[in-house]
Amino acid sequence: MTTADKLNLKKLDAPLGAEINGLDLTKMLSTDTVDAVLQAWYDNQVLVFRDQDLTPQQLVDFTAQLGEPGRPRMPPQTVRDIIPDLPPEIMIVSNVRVNGKPLGLAHDGEMWFHSDMCYAEIPHTATLLHAVDLPSEGGNTMFADMYAAYDKLKLATRDRLESCKALQVHDYKRTERPGVDLDLSKIGNFAHPVFVTHPETGKKALYVNRLMTARIEGFDRQESDALLEELFAVGEDPAIIYEHVWRPGDLVMWDNRCITHARTDFPHEERRLLRRTTLIGTEAPR
Ligand code: SIN
Repeated sequence: MTTADKLNLKKLDAPLGAEINGLDLTKMLSTDTVDAVLQAWYDNQVLVFRDQDLTPQQLVDFTAQLGEPGRPRMPPQTVRDIIPDLPPEIMIVSNVRVNGKPLGLAHDGEMWFHSDMCYAEIPHTATLLHAVDLPSEGGNTMFADMYAAYDKLKLATRDRLESCKALQVHDYKRTERPGVDLDLSKIGNFAHPVFVTHPETGKKALYVNRLMTARIEGFDRQESDALLEELFAVGEDPAIIYEHVWRPGDLVMWDNRCITHARTDFPHEERRLLRRTTLIGTEAPR
């Protein structure tokens, strides 16, 4: 029996991703099913589970069946001041304000392509987002296939950057390139290879993104900017992107080692709230 048969899996009508139907994620899964979900995730990079009615704890419990859940780092004004019983593994991704305060980092409107936690030495491997409240339009999440981006690069560019590293930073601005004079002592940052090899699939992926990659090491600013623009153009080519239009109850899981993601704009006066968990990584990208 193939993974697709075991899971009732259907490839999305898109360059990447698959939808899994018929699994109730509030229940404990068998070891076989967990293995099949992980294999499907490696094969498809993005998995969409529809119609999942999960409490925050059930989202954490499902995540914990796939690996070790991560814990979000929180700014001083934390969501837990407002929702004290929220499990520590959950991050709220939302534009909602309570008494004028955002629920953690404010997730308003558009957000450029990035890879979650690429600015950490050991980034989290998976991100899972569960849709709770959605605007009437927009707020879609776009997923770009970084294996395909690597494959599409000019050979000369690949050769030139083969053993180079890029500085990844958390200069959280959503739709701006990282600043020029960053104070690295104040923000998360780490230099990772421009191209990484996925430890499970053995495939090579481009590992830079418009929101969080500040510069390529070993080049002057102008050269680095020009090279990055060339890489971003390939990494944001619509031919390698799946745009997810959310429905309430959708749970989407993606692989930060071979996917970048971005969010489209949405009406700012409308409520958008998703719950997020992650799986921790065990090694630095290489
Ligand atoms: C994120 O980039 O962390 C959130 C994506 C989304 O809100 O769609």
